[in-house]
Order: sequence, then C-alpha cells, then structure tokens
Amino acid sequence: MKVFLVAGARPNFMKIAPIYRASLKHPEVSCQIVHTGQHYDHEMSQAFFDDLEIPTPQYYLEAGSGTHAVQTAKIMVAFEKICESGKPDLVMVVGDVNSTLACSIVAKKLLIKVAHVEAGLRSFDLAMPEEINRMVTDAISDYFFVTEESGVTNLLREGKAQSSIHYVGHVMIDNLLHQIEKMKAEGSGSWIPAFAGMTKSGAGRPEGFKLEKKSYAFMTLHRPSNVDDRNTFMGIAEALNEIAQKMIIIFPVHPRTKKMMEQFQIEFSENIKMMPPLGFKESLFLWKDAAVVLTDSGGLQEETTALGIPCVTIRENTERPITVELGTNVLAGTTKEGILNAYRQCFAKAKSASIPPLWDGRAAERIWAKLTEI
Ligand code: UD1
Repeated sequence: MKVFLVAGARPNFMKIAPIYRASLKHPEVSCQIVHTGQHYDHEMSQAFFDDLEIPTPQYYLEAGSGTHAVQTAKIMVAFEKICESGKPDLVMVVGDVNSTLACSIVAKKLLIKVAHVEAGLRSFDLAMPEEINRMVTDAISDYFFVTEESGVTNLLREGKAQSSIHYVGHVMIDNLLHQIEKMKAEGSGSWIPAFAGMTKSGAGRPEGFKLEKKSYAFMTLHRPSNVDDRNTFMGIAEALNEIAQKMIIIFPVHPRTKKMMEQFQIEFSENIKMMPPLGFKESLFLWKDAAVVLTDSGGLQEETTALGIPCVTIRENTERPITVELGTNVLAGTTKEGILNAYRQCFAKAKSASIPPLWDGRAAERIWAKLTEI
C-alpha cells in the first residue's frame, strides 16, 4: 500500500512524525512524505523536521504564501502532478490547514482514497478558515480518525457511516509523550532555547533572565481574528500587560503577529519577553514548566491538557471541547476582562482536570492497524 502523507504548515509536522514512525512497523506500507511548502521559513518548517526526526520529504511542493485562494490553488496544481506520476493508493491528510483541504480535494477527484486524521472537530465558526478546511475535508474523506468524542458525534450528525469513523486517540499526544521521554533521556542541555531574538522593539537580544519552574507564563498568538483587528489586538495586549505584572510571559512571535504588532504599534511590557518562533524542542522545554499557557493555538489546548498545565485560550470558541470539559483549558474570549477572568480561574480548574480517553501515545499504531486491516 503506497500512502502519501501530507504536511504543509507548522501544526501538521508534529502530527505526521508519529504516523511516519509507526508506518515503519508495517512492511506492507510505503509511506511517502509530501511537504507542500505552505510554511517555508526555517523556524516554521525545517526546525520542526529536525526536532521531530522526520526524514527529508519525498516531495517538496514549494507552495509558499499567498491569499487563501492562491495558496490553495498552488498546492492543488503541484499535488495533482505528483499524484498522477506517483499513483498512491491512499492520501493521508492531518489537521485543518490549507494543505489539508487542497490535497484532499485533488486526491478525491483522482479517485484516490482519503484518510483524515483529526477528523470531525467543529468550532461552528465559519469566520475561521480552518473550520471551512475541516468541513470540506470531512465531506469528501473515506476514513475518519478521530481524537475526541465530539468528533464522532459531529461526523454522525453529518451523515457519515459509523463504520468509517475510528476513535483512535491523538497522534499529537503520541508525539508529545515521545518527545518528553527523549528529553528525559537526553537531559535538558540540548533543549535549552537560544534566546537570540527580539526585544520590545523587535530587534536585538533580550536581557538574560532566569526562569524558575512554574513562575512564568508561556504565550502564543497568531489567529487572524485576534491579531488582524486593531481593537481586538489592543484589548488582548492590555490583558497580557496586566498579567505580566504578576509573572514574566515568554512570547515566541509568529510572523503574522510580528507584522501586525508593527502595523498597529502595539506596546508590550518589559516583562513580556519576545523572541522569534521556536522549534518544537525549545518550545516544549519552556511551556512544560510554565505556570500557565496563554494561547490561541489549537494544538496547545490539547498538549497542555495532556500534561495537566493550566491553559487560557484566547478565543470565543474551541473545536476541541474535551479540553474544557475534562482538561485544563479555560475559554477566555478575546476581551480584556474575559482573559483576566480566565487567568484567575485556570489554576483551580487544572487541579481537578483529567486526560481524555486514548491520549496514551499509541494513536498512530491504531491508525495503521485499522488501515492495514481495511
Ligand atoms: C497557518 C494555518 C493555521 C495554523 C498556523 C500555524 C491555514 C488556513 N492556517 O496559519 O491553521 O494554526 O499556520 O502557524 O492553513 N509566513 C512566513 N513564513 C512562513 C510561513 C508564513 O513569514 O514560513 C507568513 C506569511 O507570508 C503570512 C503569514 O506568515 O504573511 C501567515 O502565514 P500563513 O501560512 O498564511 O498562515 P498562518 O497564519 O501561519
């Protein structure tokens, strides 16, 4: 069975790493990695391949940036060519980025079976490009690998056959647990981040500072709905500046966010330590010992739940409700008051949190077991 395993953007890379690794235990499977090139900066892409032990992709499509239409179209054109020449039996897509959407459409039109890993998640917010990507991908996929119960419910409601839906747990948690084990074995020396990066003004190297475990916050922020609107971004920045009076906030800055900070002249306090995007190892090294994670990412909501770390999600909704129901996640909204309230609540919530079923590091094994059986 020849499988094209597709990844394009940063949040895909941690999902394909365990899938690829587990494929090696199945000699009947030839798993070939396709990197669409949606993310291309070293920090957004190659650094992740290195940290996550992903081999050089068989195919690199060089799609790059552009409007959603341009980026999706470029990926489709290039992916169609390699599907026609490479003739895979199955295309496996992960997550909800533009590469997920583009490659599932191309495969399906060439009558190639499509498996969607992390299927069925819904924010019910069509202003979010990822929601459209999730809905379209699920509308045409053949096999659905699901991370949480809400995914099963959503897919059944949308008319999918029960037999095509497989609750397997979460490959991103497979990766997280694997990396934590590696960190223990290697010692922390090789994981310590190089704080070469930005100061308040966006240039130079921040002053050295010592971080005690559980004394600081770790933050990521990049959603267009949070950073592309001036008033929303200002409100979020005010809340963060207030939290920064209580603890240092470590803030690796996504390229989109950096651009909008400059455009809107957003001012952050001295206690918010900014730096360029970090690799997976560096980032994990920092957030695993944070007192709290402040984020608008999808993946960190789940990874913090898996490690029991308080998480404040700076969004109006989440497509990952299990992290709020069972886990450590508090949904803050995007106003100053909402974020400060969630920050006050999150520490108590984390004390009674638990880990969702099958988030045990073996999801990728279950996926291959199911596919080879089919
Ligand atoms: C994409 C995903 C999002 C994911 C995020 C993680 C979609 C619709 N969105 O959003 O789900 O959470 O990645 O990072 O697929 N840029 C660089 N270097 C790069 C990549 C991008 O400078 O390597 C710039 C682009 O030129 C653009 C901005 O960053 O100005 C945004 O990149 P883009 O890939 O369009 O979307 P993300 O916001 O990263």
